[in-house]
Amino acid sequence: MYEHDVVVVGAGLAGMRAALAAAQQGADTAIITKVHPVRSHSNAAQGGINAALTDRGDDWEDHAYATVKGSDYLGDQDAIEVMAQEAGAAVIELEHMGVIFSRDETGHLGTRRFGGQERARTFFVADITGQAMLHVLYEQVMKENVRVYEEWFVTSLIMVDGECRGVVAMDIMSGKIEAIRAKSVILCTGGVGRAYEPSTNGLIVTGDGMGLAYPAGAALMDMEMIQYHPTTLKGNGVLITEAARGEGAYLLNSEGDRFMKTYAPNMLELASRDVVSRSEATEIQEGRGVDGCVFLDLRHLGRELIETKLSYINEVALDYMNINLADEPIPIQPGMHYIMGGIKTDVWGATPIPGLYAAGECACVSVHGGNRLGANSLLDTVVFGRRSGEAAAARALERPFGRVSEHAAYLDETRIISLLDRKDNGDSVAKVRLAMGETLNEHLAVFREEQGMQTAAKAIQQLKERYRYMPVKAKGKVFNTALVFALELGFMLDCAETICASGLTRKESRGAHYRTDMPTRDDENWLKHVTCTWSPDGPVVDTIPVTFTRWEPVERTY
Ligand code: FUM
Repeated sequence: MYEHDVVVVGAGLAGMRAALAAAQQGADTAIITKVHPVRSHSNAAQGGINAALTDRGDDWEDHAYATVKGSDYLGDQDAIEVMAQEAGAAVIELEHMGVIFSRDETGHLGTRRFGGQERARTFFVADITGQAMLHVLYEQVMKENVRVYEEWFVTSLIMVDGECRGVVAMDIMSGKIEAIRAKSVILCTGGVGRAYEPSTNGLIVTGDGMGLAYPAGAALMDMEMIQYHPTTLKGNGVLITEAARGEGAYLLNSEGDRFMKTYAPNMLELASRDVVSRSEATEIQEGRGVDGCVFLDLRHLGRELIETKLSYINEVALDYMNINLADEPIPIQPGMHYIMGGIKTDVWGATPIPGLYAAGECACVSVHGGNRLGANSLLDTVVFGRRSGEAAAARALERPFGRVSEHAAYLDETRIISLLDRKDNGDSVAKVRLAMGETLNEHLAVFREEQGMQTAAKAIQQLKERYRYMPVKAKGKVFNTALVFALELGFMLDCAETICASGLTRKESRGAHYRTDMPTRDDENWLKHVTCTWSPDGPVVDTIPVTFTRWEPVERTY
């Protein structure tokens, strides 16, 4: 059996930052990742990372307040304070590690404005910030000799006496299933974007961490809070960064009108994402869109700015639409981008399960509440990645390994063999996955209401039933990606079930959860988190209080 003090699942920004922190504490640390680390989905993060640097007159409290307001007061304020306070040091540290942040004309680190904030405090590397950070963190992880199990897929957590003592994982190359014992496990597997269709997320974003933690007894919190990004490309949902609006791009309807002045007269295109996406959807519903889209217009920014600061999205626009952003507005629409909910943790990434931690998008600390501000996700990954790595290492270094049966991998081996043994019944992972994605995108999107969410919940139940008999057509052991897709689908269906259950539970509109049948925020009854815990009969739903430190909820306008 393999063993490490700390095992990190996932090699995106949260995972690598966690592993680095754990290794630097002296813990024998490993990362298990289903793809090569620099192919992790953090690679796709474009716009930047927020931080209030005091040496330029900025103030972490202002950043924290913008985040609280952006969250529609559902974010836990103690966690938000931690994140905003630690942001400056995190960005400087990244710079010192080697992230080549874009500079302003004076040679200082440049900033751009992102939505929901009055100030420009988003640090960036052109429009490839995630990619730049990911490569640098991978260098750091290699420098610390962290063992990387590359192209291994975690199939379950090893739970003994209510404690997490490692993971069971499949080496995708050989198909071999192994137990890996650990004193602390940190889940950093990203969100569940691909439960939706379309999504800005890569195909690998399949809710694995949430799907592992949930049956092990961890609560999934605020799963109804799904962020639709205001600018995704017509038809395929590819992300067009908010940085475009940060640099000054306009949103136009079919009449050429800058419609955001109606919905957010002060902040216009840079209102919070939930507000901008709802405004676009309203324009489209009321007949002022074209083919389900409105337009993003960058022409006035000029060719030079576009080709230097926004060159990646210009390439995307050329490749997919044959549009040069300097010449023509581009059709965009709101599209699924991020989940604010996830595995409930404290500010050190700890879940209530001893030995189990989570950080990044799979976790819910909760710093994003009902709506995340753009560029707070990269910040969340490095702040809470580091904290979870330190906490997990501290736990690991003060205890011996817990006992784990030699047969820890046996149940998963049996389960996987039984998947491969299933007879062809005409059904397939692709069909179930598409049906799930379209169902959620229809009923738990920018707008929701009771009937639609009930329909979605029933449909997901039926898909779960189909999943129980769903065949895996490829039977081989070596690189059986069909098998991996099938296992991923199981995680996504569990998450989808909790998204529906949480959505049906929250009887108000808040942040990204906008119910057309209950369009107002109801602080008296619903200023609380919704949690789901696993039971054989489906999610057990509960609520827990939101943590307040200093900001009382007020009406949110932009
Ligand atoms: O628009 C973007 O660049 C996305 C950033 C984010 O989700 O934080």
